[in-house]
Amino acid sequence: MTTLRGVVVLVLAVAAAACVEAAQAEATLAEEKANLRAMNLVAETTQARDGRMLSWDEACYETLKTRTSCENLDEVLSAVDFTSYETVDPYPEEQGYVTEIDETQNCYVEFVNPEARESDTETIRYNLLTLSPSEATSQNTSGTVYLTHVTPCGACSTLEDLALYLNVTDLTSPVRQCAALHVLGIISPERAKTMVLNCLENVGFTQPSCRYIWYYNTRSTLNECASVCLAYSSAPNNDPVKNFYDVNYCAPYRAFWNPLGCKNKIQRAPDASPDNACKDFQYENGEYRLNSCLQCDECRSGPIFQKVAGRTRRDSGIASQIARPDSVEIDHDYGFACAV
Ligand SMILES: *[C@@H]1O[C@H](CO)[C@@H](O)[C@H](O)[C@H]1NC(C)=O
Ligand SMILES: *[C@@H]1O[C@H](CO)[C@@H](O)[C@H](O)[C@H]1NC(C)=O
Repeated sequence: MTTLRGVVVLVLAVAAAACVEAAQAEATLAEEKANLRAMNLVAETTQARDGRMLSWDEACYETLKTRTSCENLDEVLSAVDFTSYETVDPYPEEQGYVTEIDETQNCYVEFVNPEARESDTETIRYNLLTLSPSEATSQNTSGTVYLTHVTPCGACSTLEDLALYLNVTDLTSPVRQCAALHVLGIISPERAKTMVLNCLENVGFTQPSCRYIWYYNTRSTLNECASVCLAYSSAPNNDPVKNFYDVNYCAPYRAFWNPLGCKNKIQRAPDASPDNACKDFQYENGEYRLNSCLQCDECRSGPIFQKVAGRTRRDSGIASQIARPDSVEIDHDYGFACAV
């Protein structure tokens, strides 16, 4: 009982710290927005019109973030069953679910007005298409189709969210701070929801549907993994050797031998049989083994997140704070006047 109270007090303290940080982030975001309005970005130069000096990369991130517009997001959301994202939590009540993610298909950007990429001011419009590599090649007759991540498109596949993933190398820590706000749900679930969503917006998630899948994902992880994640909050992400007291949440569930193991599966191709939601290297001893909190998150929240979000760092070929052996390489050069 005392321990439980200690945990609640600790979590509330983390949440309070996150509130202060969120308020500070809000101020900087407002300033940032004012800057962006004042600035009419010139893509060819590294100096914005307001005089702010931007590195070449930053100029490109700003172009991706502020000048691109996805025209078919509704269609994309409907393909991953996430149209009613404001009210419908995609996570099932019970563990032991199978998520279909067709890994033979990828997510492509097709520009509607490709010439706008040369302009300084015009909005660059595009559609997100889930295609097999050969379909993408045959649809690319005018050279306007670009791979943006492997696996099908979802709520976070837009170029705005790509800009965030490219620009912010460590999203884990700020997202963890936002996740701490879920504890306010003890007092008021609606208030907690608003706080978490606002916090994610301050981190830089501009698309509402992408913010929502992060919201449901962090809530699911808190429901499923709160105590292990508190216990491992300062553990390194990759933890090569399992100690006797560690739990391998990613190893397949076995009623007697591994009752806390992973019950969820992913069907990775239409004709494949469902497979453990985690990859072997995520729990077997070795440099890519995850700590127990990340294993719990990977198995219990990961599959639905990957399906609905579509874009992840790994699938976009962007390095993350979590080492893995199966990296993909993607050249995020969409033919803009600047290239990232
Ligand atoms: C990139 O990140 C920096 C630092 O967090 C931020 O100030 C800047 O606005 C971000 N740029 C874009 C395009 O998101
Ligand atoms: C489509 O053509 C453009 C221009 O040649 C090229 O840069 C791009 O990689 C091609 N996309 C695909 C999917 O092959």
